[in-house]
Amino acid sequence: MRVKPDPDVKFCLVFQCETISVPVMRRVLGDTLRGLGVDEESVYDILLAATEACTNVLTHAGRHVRGYAVVTSLGAVGCQVEVADEGIGVAPAPQEPPAQEPEAQEPEAPVAQLPESGRGLAIMGAFVDHVTLDSRPGHGTVVTMRKHITWSSDAPLRQFRAAS
Ligand SMILES: Nc1ncnc2c1ncn2[C@@H]1O[C@H](COP(=O)(O)OP(=O)(O)O)[C@@H](O)[C@H]1O
Ligand SMILES: [Mg+2]
Repeated sequence: MRVKPDPDVKFCLVFQCETISVPVMRRVLGDTLRGLGVDEESVYDILLAATEACTNVLTHAGRHVRGYAVVTSLGAVGCQVEVADEGIGVAPAPQEPPAQEPEAQEPEAPVAQLPESGRGLAIMGAFVDHVTLDSRPGHGTVVTMRKHITWSSDAPLRQFRAAS
């Protein structure tokens, strides 16, 4: 699914990297999508995927990242949400660790390697139609999510278009 280069509506929310930004993003993005007439099921799916992407910024983008942007574009058939940070980017896969001495202590597992880790991108992919992660090490990451949407019958954009 492609989103038109000039969407009907495009808006950008910029947050500081703090935990509270995720529920605030959910509230503001959800209310705005509903206000524009996106159906409730699509709003639910988009918020779930966006939550994973924003949580990833807080978890993985690095400590020096001060903020991130959530840029949403809406067209006649689709919604695109980009979550962009200027953080460390996706770290390259770690090298094979050297064989451990028998008496060496087991190191604490980093957050990204816990058993329940690594599901965020899969969750995003399950709730929207298309997900890409574009990362430049040292320069940041952009996660782009696209989804077909259905408009409610009283969507203001559709009504005003039909009337004009
Ligand atoms: N904004 C980001 N900045 C840096 N790395 C990221 C970012 N988003 C995702 N990643 C990388 O992609 C991996 C997979 O993300 P995800 O599927 O959400 O799993 P998890 O967050 O549980 O590790 C992360 O472990 C991380 O290495
Ligand atoms: Mg994650």
